Amino acid sequence: MKRIVLFASGSGSNVENIIHYFQNNANVTVTTVLTNKRDAKVLDRCNRLGISSLCFNRTAFYSTDCILEVLKSLEPDLIVLAGFLWKIPTNLVKNFPNKIINIHPALLPKYGGKGMYGMNVHRAVKESKDQETGITIHYVNENYDEGAIIHQAKTKIEPADSPETIAKKIHELEYKYFPLIIDQLLTDS
Ligand code: GRF
Repeated sequence: MKRIVLFASGSGSNVENIIHYFQNNANVTVTTVLTNKRDAKVLDRCNRLGISSLCFNRTAFYSTDCILEVLKSLEPDLIVLAGFLWKIPTNLVKNFPNKIINIHPALLPKYGGKGMYGMNVHRAVKESKDQETGITIHYVNENYDEGAIIHQAKTKIEPADSPETIAKKIHELEYKYFPLIIDQLLTDS
């Protein structure tokens, strides 16, 4: 059985989508969802779906090996960041080489880096007058949004699109491709 551990900081609609995608798969299981936010909506989703969740604070994450030990005990085949906003510390990156992936709601290397998340990205894309945007699924290293790219998918931006409609198009791409890429990585691992 291949094991996925998810990290999220917010709504968790991608988390829920990934859980649904694998729920009838006999070879893959989502074991646990970890979050840095005790009031994140993703926790409600986990409770509703019967998925284990854990909440940690900044000290546990950055100043101790607590999360490293938790992850080691969970023995994940893949650690998936699905809307997780904190930078991953070096001890985790070093201990799980090529096992941590992230999804970014733009076509990296454009619109990445610190502060570039959620609507900030979609507003920047809208202001840029770019004619397309998309998603990037990539490996995680010590720097925000800089690990090797695994997959990108694009969507057109129409002149009438607002940052909100762009966000909706991006979520549709995420729901379609993120579970597929996770599945593929697990099959190849
Ligand atoms: C997604 O757009 C993802 O690309 C970004 O954060 C957002 C999370 O959305 N990293 P949700 O919490 O899964 O609804």
